[in-house]
Amino acid sequence: MQQEKWSACDAYITSHLIGAGEAQTATLLANAAAGLPQIDVSAPQGKMLYLLARSLHPQRILEVGTLGGYSTVWLARALAPGGRLVSFEIERRHAEIAASNVAREGFGACVDIRLGAALDLLPGLQAEGFSPIDFAFIDADKENNAAYFHEAVKLVRSGGFIVVDNVIREGAVIDPHNVHPMITGTRALYEAVSAEPRVSATVIQTVGSKGWDGFLLASVN
Ligand code: SAH
Ligand code: DHB
Ligand code: MG
Repeated sequence: MQQEKWSACDAYITSHLIGAGEAQTATLLANAAAGLPQIDVSAPQGKMLYLLARSLHPQRILEVGTLGGYSTVWLARALAPGGRLVSFEIERRHAEIAASNVAREGFGACVDIRLGAALDLLPGLQAEGFSPIDFAFIDADKENNAAYFHEAVKLVRSGGFIVVDNVIREGAVIDPHNVHPMITGTRALYEAVSAEPRVSATVIQTVGSKGWDGFLLASVN
């Protein structure tokens, strides 16, 4: 089975390169105990997000889709001193569990988990002064990915990154028979990115414990 090999290689990567202090074992246990869907980024993916974000010395990080806060904590570790992270989550229970995990990991003061539909909340960020944003991670309802990307492009500074999770979905994105809203939403994202002159972008396909998928990386010009 390919999946078993992919998962075993993720375990190998994790055992060599992800330290005990980075693993967030308590967060993953708390999320499993609460019955949250186990769709957080993997540990190697979380560390990649952290390393990408850290290279920008970020003062402001945006996340769309918190779940239990696993990716949130990876990203919070990348914040420069005095930096802040805002993460949007539509499910109250997810937001509450995430806030507890984030506090246990020591980031309660710099992470702001906000309850609501991200499309309603994103336009308020600029007015409140949460811009320019250095790094944005989009990982919520895939139907709205193009809209999230448009909002992110308005907020992210020149040289900043926009990363979007789940843009391959085992190749479903190129299957013309697949018209699930999650997939058509992802195709709309590709159209939006390709039509946006303010970014330069690519997608890297991934295999691992989460199967075959991919990340979109857009750098704002
Ligand atoms: N980034 C997380 C995983 C997020 S899963 C991690 O890697 O650890 C996607 C999350 O997006 C879910 O918790 C879901 O409730 C949330 N979500 C779905 N639609 C949303 C919306 N319209 N606005 C904000 N959050 C949303
Ligand atoms: C799934 C994985 C994700 O990373 C996500 O954000 C949503 C769903 C999944 O495997 O179903
Ligand atoms: Mg995801």
